[in-house]
Amino acid sequence: MNKFPTSTPIHIAVIMDGNRRWAAEKHLPALAGHKKVTDDILEPLIEYASTRGIKYMTFWAWSTENWHRDKYEVQGIMKLFKHVIKRRWQRLHEKGVRVKIIGDISQFDTEIKDGLTTLIEKTKANQKITVIFALNYGGRDEIVRAINQVISDKKQVTSNENFQKPVTSYEFLVTENEFANHLDTAQIPDPEIIVRPGKEKRLSGFMLWQCAYSELYFVDWYMPDFTPQKLDEILTDFSQRQRRFGR
Ligand code: FPP
Repeated sequence: MNKFPTSTPIHIAVIMDGNRRWAAEKHLPALAGHKKVTDDILEPLIEYASTRGIKYMTFWAWSTENWHRDKYEVQGIMKLFKHVIKRRWQRLHEKGVRVKIIGDISQFDTEIKDGLTTLIEKTKANQKITVIFALNYGGRDEIVRAINQVISDKKQVTSNENFQKPVTSYEFLVTENEFANHLDTAQIPDPEIIVRPGKEKRLSGFMLWQCAYSELYFVDWYMPDFTPQKLDEILTDFSQRQRRFGR
């Protein structure tokens, strides 16, 4: 008999939340919660997910709003990102993890941008699992950037001197597929599951387009407590849900 439930999601996305509350409850500085996640939580989770047949795992690590946090916390997290890019992900590369980024990384400093570009390039042929970090990511921001890209593409078509049709013509209209291909997640399947640790029950603008049919898991433990066993519980629950896609 198969040990695992039969219906395995292809893509799980995680809204990482509760790091600071986890630290505060232990009388530790806020950064200790973030560090716990990078040092002890992400790698085992990713490795376990890949053994369960999950092909994509997204982690929302930095939102477009997170820049408004206390400047020392922001500095500490940027330092942590640099450390993770340089040291930790080398191991994941060796384990066959492909890294992708969603979000507008132009806002980060050169060291982070260059580090991420190298990491994406270095891991692009890996096939075990794709890990997507959402960095300076917001769902509305992603949609607006996609719209602007669509407009810019269409402008190029309509500025062609042979293009003389009205803007309502078929060539000008956008299909769902075409729009989705302008999002940061182009070529990445929509998440079947979105998990938010940390007790809040909202998406906060995460994957606004992609979440249309996602199963939602709002759990009352914090991100630094996200063990492979907790992932198992979520997968078992998922296998018992009925997904009808409106049919
Ligand atoms: C969420 O908890 C944490 C963040 C938004 C900060 C950044 C995340 C990390 C450092 C995790 C690892 C990231 C990578 C890329 C390896 P919170 O600070 O909002 O906690 P709270 O809800 O208790 O305030």
